[in-house]
Amino acid sequence: MSNRLNATPNDLRAFWMPFTANRQFKKEPRLFVKAKDMHYTTYDGRTVLDGTAGLWCVNAGHCRPLITEAIAEQAGELDYAPAFQLGHPKAFELANRLVDIAPEGMNHVLYTNSGSESVDTALKVALAYHRVKGDGSRTRLIGRERGYHGVNFGGISVGGIVSNRKMFGTLLTGVDHMPHTHMPDKNAFTKGEPEHGGDLATELERIVTLHDASTIAAVIVEPVAGSTGVLIPPKGYLKKLRDICTKHGILLIFDEVITGYGRLGTPFAAQYFDVMPDIIVTAKGLTNGVIPMGAVFVTSAIHDAFMSGPEHMIEFFHGYTYSGNPIASAAAIATLDTYRDEGLFARAATLAPYWEKALHSLADCPHVIDIRNIGLIGAIELSPISGEPTKRAFSAFLKAYESGFLIRTTGDIIALSPPLIITEAQIDELVDGIRKVLVANA
Ligand SMILES: Cc1ncc(COP(=O)(O)O)c(C=O)c1O
Repeated sequence: MSNRLNATPNDLRAFWMPFTANRQFKKEPRLFVKAKDMHYTTYDGRTVLDGTAGLWCVNAGHCRPLITEAIAEQAGELDYAPAFQLGHPKAFELANRLVDIAPEGMNHVLYTNSGSESVDTALKVALAYHRVKGDGSRTRLIGRERGYHGVNFGGISVGGIVSNRKMFGTLLTGVDHMPHTHMPDKNAFTKGEPEHGGDLATELERIVTLHDASTIAAVIVEPVAGSTGVLIPPKGYLKKLRDICTKHGILLIFDEVITGYGRLGTPFAAQYFDVMPDIIVTAKGLTNGVIPMGAVFVTSAIHDAFMSGPEHMIEFFHGYTYSGNPIASAAAIATLDTYRDEGLFARAATLAPYWEKALHSLADCPHVIDIRNIGLIGAIELSPISGEPTKRAFSAFLKAYESGFLIRTTGDIIALSPPLIITEAQIDELVDGIRKVLVANA
């Protein structure tokens, strides 16, 4: 066993790694070979505390028995069933289980294989919905600055992170963006939802006035923006967006790829903020990150609008070879069982105040210019090194990895989102580890 743990791959060149500084990585590789509950084991035999639930996805912790057993069993029983014009029971069982935990009225589910595909699926549903309703001039999509909606063309078009957009041509046409809600001058070191910025939602009214409501299909936002460095919605912001969308017949899409499946202490952020969108986009925590799968929830009003015409006709020309794949469905059902049996969503809610207090204890560490938190999400923003943006946080990431803590950085922001099974003692361990890194990094 120790031989396997110590084995390094012969050659790292062939794999062009995603969202990675490939040359830096291949000089100093960081490889995980095992994981259990809150910890990874590195190829050189070290233990690393997971402060990020992998990539915001391993909400139930690693290698959980119900999930691994369900996958093995399903793989031996029914490995694959065609997804078009045919089915298998677990895809239906899962959809019903998902509808049970979704906000009331979200009664139908489309499956995908990732967050990016879920986003593009949601945008396509929104466009097609207006068209089947005889409102085909509603073709514009509205996103938000600093939004992250995955990497496919729909997602980067409505997304608002410049490095994810600038290399890829003109993207989708007819897209506009609302301003982001980050106001560090007014809201720095806020615990939970910031006081200032709720009125930024009225920028949507300005965009509607510019384009006319009759041309706008949907608005998409992350209820809590994650990948851009954790931007928590100001008080009242999401409710205002909802009201403006309702007033103008625009669909509101919540991208809950990060906030879904308990991250805020409720199944979805829609329930946490008590704001009901028309479409919810999910992935990641759906299968605990173990098997690629996404799910897009839509209301009955949207679903039913498509259910007309001859019954032998396909109602919506969209889907993936792996939509509702049997092994992914089995993994997702076992994941939902684990969340339910261990009360993990409630656990996240219970831990949130402890998490908040622990994180904000880092306020006096060197170069910290903001700390923000909600549910089991946190961010520590560092002042950038002059002329070398991202370097300070990346260096903290490397030091943390060496010291046995997995954190994630985006720009000069440290983003944290531990598995929901984290204990108070492990929160202390993580925060103390980060404190040491920030001091050493000064
Ligand atoms: C809000 C949001 N939407 C979409 C995505 C894309 O998901 P994926 O990487 O599974 O395509 C992510 C990934 O982090 C995300 O945070």
